[in-house]
Amino acid sequence: MAIAKILTGCLIVAAFGGGLYLGMAQVNNPVVNTSEGVGYSGGFKQASPGNKTKVVVKKTPGKTHVVNDGDSIMATVKLAKSGDTLQIMPGSYHETVYIDKDDIRIVGVIKDGRRAVLDGRGVLNDAILYSGNNIVIENLYITKFKGNGIMGQAGNNFEIRNNIIADTGVYGIFPQLGQNGIIEHNIISGIEDAAIYVGMSDNIHVAHNEVFNSVAGIEIENSRHAIVENNYVHNNTGGILAFITPGLPIKTTFDVIIRNNFVVDNNHKNFGSPGSMVSAIPAGTGILVMAADEVIIEGNIISNNKVAGILIMDHESTKNTTSDPDSDPVPDKTMILNNLMSNNGYDTIAELKAYMLTKFTTGNPDIISVGENRDSCIINGSQYVTAGLDSWKSCSFDNTDAIDNYLLDEPVAPREIDPSERGKVVYLGICTGCHSFDDRLIGPPIKTIQLIYQNDPQRLANWIAAPTKIRPNFPEMPPQNYLDDETRLAVAKYMLAAQNSTYFD
Ligand code: HEC
Repeated sequence: MAIAKILTGCLIVAAFGGGLYLGMAQVNNPVVNTSEGVGYSGGFKQASPGNKTKVVVKKTPGKTHVVNDGDSIMATVKLAKSGDTLQIMPGSYHETVYIDKDDIRIVGVIKDGRRAVLDGRGVLNDAILYSGNNIVIENLYITKFKGNGIMGQAGNNFEIRNNIIADTGVYGIFPQLGQNGIIEHNIISGIEDAAIYVGMSDNIHVAHNEVFNSVAGIEIENSRHAIVENNYVHNNTGGILAFITPGLPIKTTFDVIIRNNFVVDNNHKNFGSPGSMVSAIPAGTGILVMAADEVIIEGNIISNNKVAGILIMDHESTKNTTSDPDSDPVPDKTMILNNLMSNNGYDTIAELKAYMLTKFTTGNPDIISVGENRDSCIINGSQYVTAGLDSWKSCSFDNTDAIDNYLLDEPVAPREIDPSERGKVVYLGICTGCHSFDDRLIGPPIKTIQLIYQNDPQRLANWIAAPTKIRPNFPEMPPQNYLDDETRLAVAKYMLAAQNSTYFD
């Protein structure tokens, strides 16, 4: 969500870089610094690779509840016990489902091509919210919600599979603060922010999804050990993004493999909510790496993205309004292996054109690195039109075949939440999805909120249960009335006490 002001950023970088280079009056001689003829030493070696495709292990065989058209899924979740499965029959369901227990499976039944449809009718905020662990959500059709299709709030070991999510608000599938999860075989379109948004999470596998007609296709944000593979990412404003949003409690993004995806035609007009961070992504960006470390880009087909195939930026060049002393603004170790790139950058933005001139490069850019970057590498770089890659070395490996996925061998133990921790977990698992301490994200900064509510957490707790529209230039805040009174008060106190973006106690 936080691709802040790329345009502004590029402008500034280009102006500065231009001055610098023209001043030096260099000979127009491109330096080729790539890896033709290098003998590769083989595959990428790191961490111990897993090989699982399921993260949820069913311990006790539970009951199966059949939910028929006309019944309430939420009412059935309330009846269900850990270990139970809900079979949702084809039909139309108009409700928000909140799952706050562990080991629940929500499985849509597809009959003669008909699915269980969760329809928010443009009035409800969220289709499915879960804070439980070991949650499975499969085979649903989710449409016309204003907020989230499926949002995880600190739930671990999740499987979100084979859902269709269309024209649904801000985020399609959004696990926040989750560990060990799979998002696969979903089809998601028409999302105003990110179709798939992995936020502050670890050990995540995003595979075989189709995401299109959204502002951002797949985002890996402030997350670690994630693989994004075999997805079809087309007609978004930006295709696949790995980045760090400064100002969130988790400060890093690293160890991300983006491989074997189709990243094509991501030229959709940007329809992000005005003022939001994604609204600054230039339409036509294939893959964007911003400040994230150890991102491997391998085996993708990247074509017809009009601004650039791959864009790598540091925070400095994106001119974020605040810098976060606890997060490193520079992308380290971007590793670009063999990718098939064609017809990118054919209508790039003026800022990047100007930047390329400072690098004595012309043509339609496949790969551009703007700003500082450390220890990066590329294979056969001269087959692409690139700029800003002069210091990149050739990679010492050419594949990541040894790594199937980063899922854990054992599911993470269920999160035991001490009542005194409730406020903190809700804050991290829900509120920081839209509120950072210093900056505007989807909602206003927390320091602004603190000024409004000062020492009155009860008033804040009441407001979030039934928010009214306050700021004309912001979307509506989704009601948090699925949280009980005590939890709302706890999170209100926690939010008002926060000292800075690192606040954890
Ligand atoms: C999906 C995004 C989203 C999430 C999640 C979210 N908020 Fe918000 N929040 C907003 C937006 C957007 C606004 C601005 C609404 C407006 O001004 O009309 C807002 C405004 C607020 C305000 C300011 C109200 C005022 O009087 O100005 C408070 C307080 C607040 N949120 C608390 C919370 C808390 C606590 C949580 C977590 C339980 C939370 N928010 C989660 C989007 C979100």
